[in-house]
Amino acid sequence: MSALDAQAVAAIYDRHGAKQDGAGWYEDPPLRALMPHLALDEASAVLELGAGTGRFAEWLLDAMPDGATYTAVDLSGEMCRLARERLARFGERVTVHHGPADAVELPAGGFDRVVSSYMFDIWSEDAIADGITACHQWLRPDGIIGLVSLTDGQSFIGRAVSSLWAAVHRRRPQWVGGCRPLQQARFFGDGWQIEHRSVVRAWGIPSEVLVARKRG
Ligand SMILES: C[S@@+](CC[C@H](N)C(=O)[O-])C[C@H]1O[C@@H](n2cnc3c(N)ncnc32)[C@H](O)[C@@H]1O
Repeated sequence: MSALDAQAVAAIYDRHGAKQDGAGWYEDPPLRALMPHLALDEASAVLELGAGTGRFAEWLLDAMPDGATYTAVDLSGEMCRLARERLARFGERVTVHHGPADAVELPAGGFDRVVSSYMFDIWSEDAIADGITACHQWLRPDGIIGLVSLTDGQSFIGRAVSSLWAAVHRRRPQWVGGCRPLQQARFFGDGWQIEHRSVVRAWGIPSEVLVARKRG
């Protein structure tokens, strides 16, 4: 699936646990940039892949209508525990599945939004392509996918940071949580309309925000 197998990825994030929230210094600006493109006030069923501690889920649930549901999938048992704990106040609107997103059984057409941040950049290219195909099946026609990942920088500093990150990932992928810079748009084919793509640099680290709509 990636330079690291699923067991190694799960072990990293089981150990990492709540420390993942410390990544907010570079994750929050791109996640904030994604939010308005998700039209969450019109969402009824949101799926998040690789939800981590449930921190972004809180933003999503606070912006969704009261009756709308949220489903998370995460490979790490510790991340699922933290997310369940954090999201307990939302009651039955929340379901957290523990397991690999590429093997979870979810209803076709069951969601009108799919989101994922800093998870596909752990996966191999073949797995990402299959994952995007699965997201297409899980979305309703006209549904929206919103993704954030590390990406290649555009400025001198951004390029230097992303090259360094990629070099560390090649030698010691576990040091960077298995994540490496990615260009997401090329995984989206005819079944999608890309509605937004931007690169947001926070404290030197470039992230790509990509939003696409499933063609009806
Ligand atoms: C870098 S963390 C990002 C967490 C969160 N989305 C965030 O932005 O803070 C990657 C998360 O993806 C999860 N993950 C990695 N591979 C996965 C897979 N195949 N299926 C489900 N979750 C996965 C990890 O357990 C971890 O919680």
